[in-house]
Amino acid sequence: MNKPWMNAALPVEARIDALLEVMTPAEKIGQTQQVRNINPSHADALRAGSIGSALFASGAWAGNERDGGVRLQALHAMQRVAVEESRLGIPLLYARDVIHGHRTVFPIPLGQAATWSPDLVRAGARIAATEAAAEGLHWTFTPMLDIVRDPRWGRVAESFGEDPHLCGELARAAVRGYQGDDLAHPESIAACAKHFAAYGGAEGGRDYNTVDIGPRSLRDTYLPPFRAAVRAGVATVMASFNEIDGMPVTAHRELLRQTLKENWGFDGLVVSDWNAVAELIAHGVASDRRAAGKLALDAGVDIDMVSNIFLEELAGLVESGDVSASALDDAVRRILRVKFRLGLFEQPMRGHADPDTVFLQAPFRQAARQAAAESLVLLENRDGLLPLRADTKRILLTGPLASADQALFGTWTLDGLAGDVVTLEKALREGLGKDVDLRVKPFVDEALLHARSCDVALVCVGEHPSRGGEANSVVSLELPAGQTEILEALHRIGLPIVAIVIAGRPLDLSRVRSYADAILFAFHPGVEGGHAIADVLLGHHDACGRLPMSFPRHGGQVPLYYNHKSTGRPLPPNQHVHARYADSSDAPLYPFGYGLGYTRFAYGTPRLSAEEIPTDGELRIDIDITNHGDRPGIETVQVYVRDLCASVTRPVRELKSFARVALVPGETRTLAFAIQAADLAFSGPDLRARVEPGEHHLWVAAHALAGEPVAFRLTGPVVYPDPGA
Ligand code: GLC
Repeated sequence: MNKPWMNAALPVEARIDALLEVMTPAEKIGQTQQVRNINPSHADALRAGSIGSALFASGAWAGNERDGGVRLQALHAMQRVAVEESRLGIPLLYARDVIHGHRTVFPIPLGQAATWSPDLVRAGARIAATEAAAEGLHWTFTPMLDIVRDPRWGRVAESFGEDPHLCGELARAAVRGYQGDDLAHPESIAACAKHFAAYGGAEGGRDYNTVDIGPRSLRDTYLPPFRAAVRAGVATVMASFNEIDGMPVTAHRELLRQTLKENWGFDGLVVSDWNAVAELIAHGVASDRRAAGKLALDAGVDIDMVSNIFLEELAGLVESGDVSASALDDAVRRILRVKFRLGLFEQPMRGHADPDTVFLQAPFRQAARQAAAESLVLLENRDGLLPLRADTKRILLTGPLASADQALFGTWTLDGLAGDVVTLEKALREGLGKDVDLRVKPFVDEALLHARSCDVALVCVGEHPSRGGEANSVVSLELPAGQTEILEALHRIGLPIVAIVIAGRPLDLSRVRSYADAILFAFHPGVEGGHAIADVLLGHHDACGRLPMSFPRHGGQVPLYYNHKSTGRPLPPNQHVHARYADSSDAPLYPFGYGLGYTRFAYGTPRLSAEEIPTDGELRIDIDITNHGDRPGIETVQVYVRDLCASVTRPVRELKSFARVALVPGETRTLAFAIQAADLAFSGPDLRARVEPGEHHLWVAAHALAGEPVAFRLTGPVVYPDPGA
């Protein structure tokens, strides 16, 4: 057979046209079919061209279930059947949830967000892609870009937090890390912006629950990170399980076809979430599988993940005219486009001859160690207890995570091995001098006996990863049962206590704060988490993480987020005097953007380029930051803006820019920020993205509750900077 689509000199679109022209309806439908864990039992279906892609996952809740991993030879064996034994030889797409590392496991994405470092996120994604590609994978189902405001939801662990700007910056970095500049590069894999959209708005923090938000919240809070990913060239998008105000996203034509594909110009593919096409029946919008298949394809779903509905129903739907042949062609075109861009037609057997030589290379471990160290957030440090003084000679290490290995990985770690982990105990023994007596006493009663003769207690508490992730929401945000009591018991002894909290979500640390003199918070830090925590405890690395999510003082406060609206009865700044709760302050225990360090930074007065800028102009801000302490440090300088009066209500603050700066003692650096008026756009009464004239406040601050505002004004007409919004 003449196969003009195999001519790599042709433009991709011409190759797609040539292939589409000869494909039968059955072969087209086969491309939309995604199976789980492909194996020799699928050989006949491959020969018939009835499978287009496969994901490797343990099951519907893959995030907390280990499977046997993937093996290059097995992937190549099935690819060989698809390419050499089917009529057209269209290669398979292989996918896996490589969420925060393959064998070199990085901090969970919420921890990576705590670094506020697009560079670290991009480097981690590149390493994950290199390792996953070495093992024959082409596609990862990440970055997860759900905006999250409710820590009861276990999947906050996979997110980049509560802020659209921070999440958007990290989305861009992650996509570029996974995909590189060329999807066909042997170390690149296709990324997947998920879960599109607003899955994080699940009521009650209950996974899969109803999302009941208005169109303005959808556009201005939940969609921006996905727009950033699309602008960064993300190859795929995953439709989310949830409904939005009555419409399940898997059947949401306005969101998938109108907004994502037409308005934003997304030319990649949309994959459903696990069995989500079939779940339209449970949602109550499809009477049967055939109806569900029609809804999903019409809405803009291109690949059906494991429900088999597209495979079983699309032929009849197209023949009967219930689904247009052009809708099927559009789906197949998008799938083939990703495959051509990945270079799979030229190199279907992607992978490294010996993947084990690629994994956990020293530079990869070092990158994971740096990311983990910069993800750690110092929440309390009374009397400068940390970093531990050089004359600290007797250290008690206790608590359920003191010697944890796999528990440091966090949820969605499918290929990391416990034996690769450097535990905190091991890292401390490496980092402490031989004259230091490190006593590791996991049993609290034995720990109490030793506490009297130790200088400090390091108490490792927190969550096992299985308490978070998918389908694992919690009602209580306090530490798991029994852990606060460990701190309480040691507190009664009277020695200084460092609480090292390792978790996958913000927790209510109100009681922890009353017992511990220092609190170092680690979002499950990954394979080098032990080294990273020791590096910060011992002062080998500054404590520089900043919170990507607000921490409540009680679980009863959630959902809780910094960029809230003023309401008609706003709270005065003196939070503990006024509150809407009879039994609590309204304020977070630790706000978005918060974190302590080992030095002190002074912020100068922001200098604006003008007090008035046109609604299509640019505002430049300079500010001097000084390290007034006696140690080097890294500060994350945050720029917030408030629109004081607009045609709709606006948040009391919105992050619009940030920069990290490393300063040595006594050093002053001038930071320059530029904010485009277009960055201040919002959905007006007509839901069109607009920039309005009017008074604004701006803060350059260390976190979302810090700093004093400076005023500026936008002048001129209302402008509409973003027709695609
Ligand atoms: C899961 C998750 C999704 C994941 C997919 C494949 O249910 O919702 O994030 O990528 O199925 O494992």
